[in-house]
Amino acid sequence: MNDKQRVAHYAAQQIDSGMLIGLGTGSTANCFIDALVERQQNEALDCQYVASSIVTLQYARQAGLKLVGIETLAYLDLYVDGADEVAPDLSLLKGRGSDLVREKLLAQNSREFWVLIDPSKKVNHIGEKFPVAVEVMPFAVSLVQNSLSHLNIAAVLRKQGDGLHVTSHGCLVLDCQFNNDAPVSIDLQLNAVPGVVEHGIFLLPQTRVFCGEDQTVREMLR
Ligand code: 5RP
Repeated sequence: MNDKQRVAHYAAQQIDSGMLIGLGTGSTANCFIDALVERQQNEALDCQYVASSIVTLQYARQAGLKLVGIETLAYLDLYVDGADEVAPDLSLLKGRGSDLVREKLLAQNSREFWVLIDPSKKVNHIGEKFPVAVEVMPFAVSLVQNSLSHLNIAAVLRKQGDGLHVTSHGCLVLDCQFNNDAPVSIDLQLNAVPGVVEHGIFLLPQTRVFCGEDQTVREMLR
């Protein structure tokens, strides 16, 4: 078992039948799905799930999990996802998979938000290893880039193959560089730009971070 599988397995062991659980996007989220499927098959674990992206929806559906549409939700018991960076205050950077608006909706509307990582995701400050992904309405890209440049924020349109990267509900992604700015300040700046749908900084009080390391799982405390 590698660190991602170990932490995913640990999280799946905490789940009780009857819960409504949000499924994140990425390789760690897929490990969590695999561990849930194992419990469903071996222990008749019976939960309902909602996916944070089309790719996760397909993965979970093929694996045999019971899915409900995000449109039907009033709340979730738990949202479980990976992250790209976790700072000591548990602020997060997400978005290499880029389905940020669905991920943040699910995280924000969950009683608890569990983030599953391996040690490579720990950083001293957000933005240390990756740019901040910003999901943008397609028709607004030039105007958003212009607004960001007035704030001295360099923004590069994310490409995929010969085309542009498109999120699960049709947005484009700008990868933005910040120089060690506080996550709260980045959050405020990006939220104030019209045309920005969502961005990759997650600052939620219900966040709990679990790290698979040294053959065990440790919870990161603020
Ligand atoms: C998707 C995400 C992912 O959770 C993040 O990129 C981590 O991915 P992985 O589990 O594959 O390392 O934020 O938008």
